[in-house]
Amino acid sequence: MSHSYLHPCFYVFMLLVALVSAFRYYGEEINTTLAKSEAKKLHEAIKDKKFGNEDVIRILSTRSISQLQATFNCYREEEGTSISKNLPKDLSEEYIATLRMAVRCLKDPKKYFEKVLRRSIEGIGTDEDALTRVIVTRAEKDLKEIKELYHKRNNVPLDIAVDKETSGDYKDMLLTLLGNEV
Ligand SMILES: *[C@@H]1O[C@H](CO)[C@@H](O)[C@H](O)[C@H]1NC(C)=O
Repeated sequence: MSHSYLHPCFYVFMLLVALVSAFRYYGEEINTTLAKSEAKKLHEAIKDKKFGNEDVIRILSTRSISQLQATFNCYREEEGTSISKNLPKDLSEEYIATLRMAVRCLKDPKKYFEKVLRRSIEGIGTDEDALTRVIVTRAEKDLKEIKELYHKRNNVPLDIAVDKETSGDYKDMLLTLLGNEV
């Protein structure tokens, strides 16, 4: 099996693995030399459309989140455009969407989580899994900033939106985590 023709689901899987493992090593020191050389490798792989390239998988799945952020910054500095904009539109949509999501999340977790919240609340019905996941996992971390970002983007405070969309004990739990007295 050639590396450039693996099933798209394989990439999606690898990226999920990459995200999970990347989040485990947030605090590591950044190696700028490494960031520069890996930004170049990513660029070459993207240019040649070799997304399943061993280097790509290795970089995304083994580097810490801070190291990857440094790599994406180098990429932008060197290429004059961000890596998520550089990805072509003609690949498997599912793969690209996941890759973009992964890259955005690594670049700016708060912005990413705000978007997940917005998507889980807007429209008919509520994606309770996504809503719960973000609020519970970010509660002790950056939920305050995510709330501010949400308010700014949607012109409505997150707790008001959650209050309108949920009910009962579930609502009370979310509102408590959001810092409200219930
Ligand atoms: C940084 O990465 C380069 C390239 O892989 C390596 O040669 C160097 O030893 C690393 N520096 C540190 C401080 O780990």
